[in-house]
Amino acid sequence: MLQRTFSIIKPDATERNLEGAILDRIQKAGLRVVAMKKIHLTRAQAEGFYHVHKERPFFGSLVEFMCSGPVVCSVLEGEDAIAKYRELMGATNPANAAEGTLRKDFAVSLEANSVHGSDAPETAAFEICYFFNALEITG
Ligand code: CMP
Repeated sequence: MLQRTFSIIKPDATERNLEGAILDRIQKAGLRVVAMKKIHLTRAQAEGFYHVHKERPFFGSLVEFMCSGPVVCSVLEGEDAIAKYRELMGATNPANAAEGTLRKDFAVSLEANSVHGSDAPETAAFEICYFFNALEITG
């Protein structure tokens, strides 16, 4: 099923100039970038994006980290894009990430884990609309 998912290349990765390396892996996995922007999130924007985690103990630290530098947001399209990108990213905690995954190869810690990807169609729909309007998404 042709599907879209939402991706963030996080501040730990942009800081280390890894956008190109990560996007190369995304494209080689067969996912197409149909929208993309580099932005520096405000606290309010990061809080809104991660609102589902607002009761979690790591919420404040997560928001702080996501505002610590620029991020690259993109919409990825492909066959089963949500599952495909989650497989490419690997486990949330890089200590548990499989060989050959983005988090195994690039992540620094559970928080500074280099990439985010939507976990379900409903979250993909919310996350895509949070950052992009219809005119900003191609093909
Ligand atoms: P992400 O996929 O962006 O979704 C929420 C983020 O919270 C997650 O990746 C991690 O980077 C971060 N995080 C920090 N601490 C934890 C934790 N204990 N459990 C899950 N996620 C955490």
